[in-house]
Amino acid sequence: MAMKEDTGSAHISNPRKLALQNHFKVDPADNVTGYKSFEAGKFSFRRDEYFAYITTPKGAHTMSVDAFLRALMRDVAWGFFYGTVNFDPVFGTTNFYGEVDMFYGSLNEAYTSEGRDYIERFRSDELMAIFKEMVSDWTNEGFDPFSAPRETGVPWGAKNGDNDDAVSRQRVTARRMVGMPGDTPLRTDGNGFPVNVMFDDVEQGQPEVHAEPGFEAEVQAFNLFGYLSRSDVTWNPSVCSVVKDSLFCPTTEEYILPVEHGNDRCEWFIQLSDQITWNIKDGVSGRPKAVVAMKAGDVACMPADIRHQGFSPKRSMLLVWENGSPKVPELIREGKAPNVAVQF
Ligand code: PHB
Ligand code: FE
Repeated sequence: MAMKEDTGSAHISNPRKLALQNHFKVDPADNVTGYKSFEAGKFSFRRDEYFAYITTPKGAHTMSVDAFLRALMRDVAWGFFYGTVNFDPVFGTTNFYGEVDMFYGSLNEAYTSEGRDYIERFRSDELMAIFKEMVSDWTNEGFDPFSAPRETGVPWGAKNGDNDDAVSRQRVTARRMVGMPGDTPLRTDGNGFPVNVMFDDVEQGQPEVHAEPGFEAEVQAFNLFGYLSRSDVTWNPSVCSVVKDSLFCPTTEEYILPVEHGNDRCEWFIQLSDQITWNIKDGVSGRPKAVVAMKAGDVACMPADIRHQGFSPKRSMLLVWENGSPKVPELIREGKAPNVAVQF
């Protein structure tokens, strides 16, 4: 995911002034489907052969279980990510870095205008424990929520084994840069990262590095296109280089970003290959704002007050550039930092 290991934030903001909930329960496997069900606060979660069901005091919500598991996997792997992870236009989480809001309809004008929205707050580690157990229990053998649909088996049916190797993948978070001594390694055939069939035309050569004596551990270069051509997952930005709070988080994309990401800071996209079409909506109301078609070489900056979801018809390479500073969301909420990176 696109975050450093430790955001280091001491102050946890709570704009809705919600009390922390501490009810969590894992119910035993259902006699018919074999899946466990889960409770966190007054939210409850159940799956059957095709669907995930979320129940709240203000109403129930149903999602196709493939979309739900792909979104849940991202929320888990990214530690609730930056800002809001909308699983769909109704349900999701908002990260306050130590604590997290879980909501039903709260960022959907059609629900809030009718008073049908519901939101609760949790300690991040406690909700994360439930989410991890849910993604593990609800993922069947052969289904990989990180894979493009053409590369994975199906999530449907009664409980059938698990895929814990896939759902517990450790994310790549370079401390300085991929390939530096002691840092996260380059990908090769030999360490389990063959070139993806959709990128078999990508040049695999590596740059030559001629460091001055004494600087061998300080100077590094690698073939980013070659590195990305060997990614085994989709829609999973990983930190590949770090300069203070500036994080380069490239990723390979195919099919649909499984979440509508609601930013809490500006976020730059550089389309490195092929094309992604982004649907942009208002972050709070969900009203549509723009459709952005990004072709190879295009650069966009997503404002801090929107949500976005990308559609990639072919496997493509995207560089997501984040400002990882934990101070940014509060500065934006207080009006001390702008929602946009550039004002004309
Ligand atoms: C994003 O929300 O900005 C995002 C998330 C995952 C990706 C790409 C972009 O793979
Ligand atoms: Fe985003």
